[in-house]
Amino acid sequence: MLELEDVLAANERVTETSRRTPLVYSNTFSKMTGAEIYLKQEMFQRTGAFKIRGATNRIATLSERDREAGVVTASAGNHAQGVALAATRMGVDSTVVMPEDAPISKIEATRAYGAEVILHGVDYDEAAEYARELEREQNRYYLPAFDDWDVMAGQGTIGLEIVEELPDVDTVVVPIGGGGLIAGIATAVKGTNPDARIIGVQAAGASSVVPSLEEGRRVEIDSVGTVADGIATRTVGEKTFRVIEERVDEVVTVTDAEIAVAVVTLLERSKTLAEGAGAVALAALLAETFEYDPGETIVPALCGGNIDMNVLTTVIVRGLIETGRYLRVRTVLPDRPGALDSLVGIISEQEANIYAIQHDRTSRHVSMDDAEIEIDLETRGHDHIDELVDALESAGYEMTVLEGGSGAANLDLL
Ligand SMILES: Cc1ncc(COP(=O)(O)O)c(C=O)c1O
Repeated sequence: MLELEDVLAANERVTETSRRTPLVYSNTFSKMTGAEIYLKQEMFQRTGAFKIRGATNRIATLSERDREAGVVTASAGNHAQGVALAATRMGVDSTVVMPEDAPISKIEATRAYGAEVILHGVDYDEAAEYARELEREQNRYYLPAFDDWDVMAGQGTIGLEIVEELPDVDTVVVPIGGGGLIAGIATAVKGTNPDARIIGVQAAGASSVVPSLEEGRRVEIDSVGTVADGIATRTVGEKTFRVIEERVDEVVTVTDAEIAVAVVTLLERSKTLAEGAGAVALAALLAETFEYDPGETIVPALCGGNIDMNVLTTVIVRGLIETGRYLRVRTVLPDRPGALDSLVGIISEQEANIYAIQHDRTSRHVSMDDAEIEIDLETRGHDHIDELVDALESAGYEMTVLEGGSGAANLDLL
């Protein structure tokens, strides 16, 4: 079992490669929630995520023989970069196997941190199989992503940093993928402050821990689908599950829409970029997935900021839709001069800004003397959308909301 002493020992070692990350009080999120919110900004860790901590502790505790032989691992994400930089900084050779379709930005970053990157297989499982072959053929040490006591202890150093600055913290909220991060943090935080509460968060599209805890054994789900790729795992580890069972108080889930809102709100209000997995702890708080007392001290662990720029574009638009800042509507106009002008006049009176407008007089969805109109609009929240749609309907337009509006999550965060 993982103990506080293991995390304390890891803390001495991780300083060799990793930095202490900021724990920042957030006025915005404290006001929104009525609690005292401190953000643990692990996106400012070297490599942009916490994985370097666990990799460093694992490499530091290897035998001389293993260090000389070098390490190998498989990853399509943050673990790859964490292992690469930890190994390079500790003078150890590293090989990382990534699936053939891994994003070019991640391949390049991992190479730049000093690993040999091998592209192999169509997915993580095939890449991992090949990494295991290299382990055997080259006698390298296979560095696990989460189900290892030393890896967990390394990740737990985040928890030590939290309790050092906030000894009386009430609640720490932590994402769960394979479970290494939460196992380490829970051990560090509860070992120091047994009254503190640890809440785990999974994406609704990759949620194995809630059923696992219910059944008292690890459940593996058939498939995963979430924007939070860092926590898109089908199950947690054997060892990590033991720690979760013993030390995690509650596990909740968040939807991709809730994650998008958290990413956008963090960007807009805190000027910080979190990847999907890095934002789930805040998403769980904003979506009120767990209960807390007013004034409680809560730390969401924001564990990574490595998000693909194309994914970020989609996430931002989704986040704006959810918060009532983006609306797409459809209506039908008579196909005659001035009809569009009258519609646009009402929109401008209501002070909504038009992003894009499509006027299709040949649409086969409307009669031949009508035109179909689709408009993308910048709006100021759900109340503004309601007022705008009311004004248009009162003027006789039949409006269909295609994106946004009251169908979206009702999170008036502004
Ligand atoms: C940003 C981020 N958050 C959370 C996690 C989950 O960590 P664990 O797999 O140890 O549960 C990961 C894992 O890769 C991650 O990259």
